[in-house]
Amino acid sequence: MATAVLGLQWGDEGKGKITHLLAREAGMVVRFNGGPNAGHTVIDRGVKFGTHLVPAGVFYPNTVNVLAGGTVIDMEVLHEEVEAISEHVGRRPELLIAENAHLILPYHRLLEELEGSGAHFGTTRRGIAPTYRDKAAKVGIRAGDLRRPDVLATRIERRLDQLKRQWPASEEVGRLDAGTLAEELVTLADPFIGSIGDATGAIAEALREKRNVLFEGAQGTLLDVDHGTYPYVTSSSTTYAGLGNSIGIPEPAITQRLGVVKAYQTRVGAGPFPTELEDETGVGFRERGGEYGVTTGRPRRCGWLDLVALRYAVELNGVTDIALTKIDVLTGLDEIKICRAFEVEGEALDRYPLSGDVLEKCEPIYEAMSGWSESFDGVESLRDLPDAAAAYVAAIEEGVGVPVEIVSVGPEPEATIYRGL
Ligand code: IMP
Repeated sequence: MATAVLGLQWGDEGKGKITHLLAREAGMVVRFNGGPNAGHTVIDRGVKFGTHLVPAGVFYPNTVNVLAGGTVIDMEVLHEEVEAISEHVGRRPELLIAENAHLILPYHRLLEELEGSGAHFGTTRRGIAPTYRDKAAKVGIRAGDLRRPDVLATRIERRLDQLKRQWPASEEVGRLDAGTLAEELVTLADPFIGSIGDATGAIAEALREKRNVLFEGAQGTLLDVDHGTYPYVTSSSTTYAGLGNSIGIPEPAITQRLGVVKAYQTRVGAGPFPTELEDETGVGFRERGGEYGVTTGRPRRCGWLDLVALRYAVELNGVTDIALTKIDVLTGLDEIKICRAFEVEGEALDRYPLSGDVLEKCEPIYEAMSGWSESFDGVESLRDLPDAAAAYVAAIEEGVGVPVEIVSVGPEPEATIYRGL
């Protein structure tokens, strides 16, 4: 059986914990988009990890961990992560890096600084947009190039020639040397050269053999480059439609498309956010929920759950069921609000607007629901949720038309409630 885990908000939904839980049963885990801009928090046997690149299968033996063609890889980050995890699990994880995945080079991070997009859009400053841009402009460097050092050096040299013409006044660009960059990259990538290969073929075979394959999404639907709140988005396809393209299989046999949803809404970086709370309630979510970026440490903006956005995300991904996370953060509130529709210049709107300018003007229309004060300790089945929490879960299911199968009430794997019998 194959499952895709997809973020349905602006990232940080808790996909890390959910994929880590599901990866236990998987023979292959495939990360299909983004790069080290992601930050997945995982607690493995009591040790907390913030992973950025490696798929969640690295924590288990006998699991193949694939970085698919649609990802972008920073060899420095991969190196560090694999070292730390190898030490923790006592063996080197098995990796397969798609030969067509693009590499983040030091000049991609530098370009993001020179262009000021970090400051303007609030990006993660990991060189993500410049790398995807180079890919589309056909001047990127791919993992497969590492196996041909002569080709690699020529491609880097060509790109540096362009950059030096584009940035004649930048001393940092002026200092870049193709030979040195290629050499550093080859040294860093040396332990991974044997892991670079035909990811499409390996995934197709695993699906054909009906092995348990888990597809791990990064970021969230509203950050999708095509369907998100453009231009305040990331540069990859974060949604189910992008998965097939990334892995090179048009209709992968994925039966479960599990959407991960946080019980409230958060966003890091700039961009419209209709249900944002700039008051004590929002501060309470941030403090109780530890809402600080795993990659950048930035405080996340917090607000009420937006069902208009969620309906859109469920449709866009063809979600079959939902994992609802961090519902425990809402415990203790007298009243909980849920956004059911928007109002724009006096008109009601129940479709999510594709234009950031319209979204900017949307006023949320809320339904107020009762809060709860009971703890979730010892609750194992959704049937045993406190009444008000059960009503909140039911409102989400009714609002988006798919069932909630998993509810997460804490970062540890044990703090998980399943629908139950
Ligand atoms: P970039 O992906 O670094 O280009 O950043 C573009 C936007 O996506 C910024 O608003 C980031 O904060 C946001 N973003 C990128 N990756 C993540 C993530 O994993 N979680 C949450 N937000 C993210």
